[in-house]
Amino acid sequence: MSRPVAPSLPLSADALNFRPSAIRALSALLNDPGVISFAGGAPNPQTFPDEILASHAARAIREGKVSSLQYGPTAGQKRLRELVAGIARDRGIAAAVENVMITTGSQQALSLVSHVLLDPGDVVLVELPTYVGGTGAFYGRRAALEGVAQDDDGIVPESLDEVSGRLAAEGRRVKFLYTIPNFQNPSGRLMSRARREEVYAIARRRGFAILEDDPYGELAFEQGLPTAPIKTLDSDGIVIYLGSFSKILAPSLRCGWIAADPLLLRAVETAKEAADLCSGMLDQAIVASLIESGELAPQVERVRSFYRDRRDTLMEALGEHFGGRASWTRSSGGLFTFLTLADGRDTGELLPRAIDAGVAYVPGAPFFVDGRGRETMRLTFAKEPDDRMRDGVARLARVLF
Ligand SMILES: Cc1ncc(COP(=O)(O)O)c(C=O)c1O
Repeated sequence: MSRPVAPSLPLSADALNFRPSAIRALSALLNDPGVISFAGGAPNPQTFPDEILASHAARAIREGKVSSLQYGPTAGQKRLRELVAGIARDRGIAAAVENVMITTGSQQALSLVSHVLLDPGDVVLVELPTYVGGTGAFYGRRAALEGVAQDDDGIVPESLDEVSGRLAAEGRRVKFLYTIPNFQNPSGRLMSRARREEVYAIARRRGFAILEDDPYGELAFEQGLPTAPIKTLDSDGIVIYLGSFSKILAPSLRCGWIAADPLLLRAVETAKEAADLCSGMLDQAIVASLIESGELAPQVERVRSFYRDRRDTLMEALGEHFGGRASWTRSSGGLFTFLTLADGRDTGELLPRAIDAGVAYVPGAPFFVDGRGRETMRLTFAKEPDDRMRDGVARLARVLF
């Protein structure tokens, strides 16, 4: 934890409660070409539609500079909000433009929603494991994080009911459940339809909201998977749904969005005004122009097929080298698989040896708010080409077994 800058500038309690991301701390390693990296969570640059973006960027500047180079509405460019409402409806969410707000990546949505909903000591329920950018935002509001169990079908309803019931009996206020039902970061899991219904029913009965984070839902590798958001069940307005263009277009666009109740969005908009006035209007103009041109759907298809092939390679290599010695998720979408060593050894302690052998992964413990997960690791199939992935898995197996 960083220390106060000077005695005359003591940091706030919130600042002292922020926790640096254990994963970003590994980032220096990830750019070392000598290390085969299954760490990191960034999309592969080969999936970026650079030429398409360049032409929309030129158009947005040349034809629309009055809006694309100027400050704009805090809630987002109107045309993009309309287009995003259309995307939300395509996902089965009943959304009009007043239900949609644009944010500077979905990470900002996590931060802003935390700001408007959390007081110090409020409880946020999180999946075990969960995304560290989510927990980072909640810790920054001094929330208390409580874990709920997951299995291969997603959140275990009995665990959610038991944990939220116990907290209520202790008089502690659960504000919301944070969940990533589609191809979760870090586990790669997809929550089943039945579990989504049960999770929604428990939240409704016990009186807490659901913060549903869905940056990976479009990256489904098979037809007919149950990716329809929990938000589609939301007859009571208790689900705050987050989307993002980072994984299907490019993260530098910093273009995320919220679909939620307009009253909540009003509070979020005021918080956003204080944070950054508005998200980048040029980014928004580029994204709006690209969607209007009809180029989003083919782009998503290309990205899916790119990662599907990479996933196949990693699964095959793990089967060859790790069979019987570890278990891992057979991810049906997204960027990650999550691996558990059968012998229970600590992957954090093993990492320096792996790096010496030229291969990196993310140890799983930081993804667990209850201190467990030492025998787990997150592996991404996004970064390395097939031959390096095969080589990397073989090297890892030599280090581990
Ligand atoms: C689950 C999850 N939520 C949110 C984000 C942040 O994405 P964005 O680029 O939209 O801010 C990420 C990024 O990796 C993520 O994995």
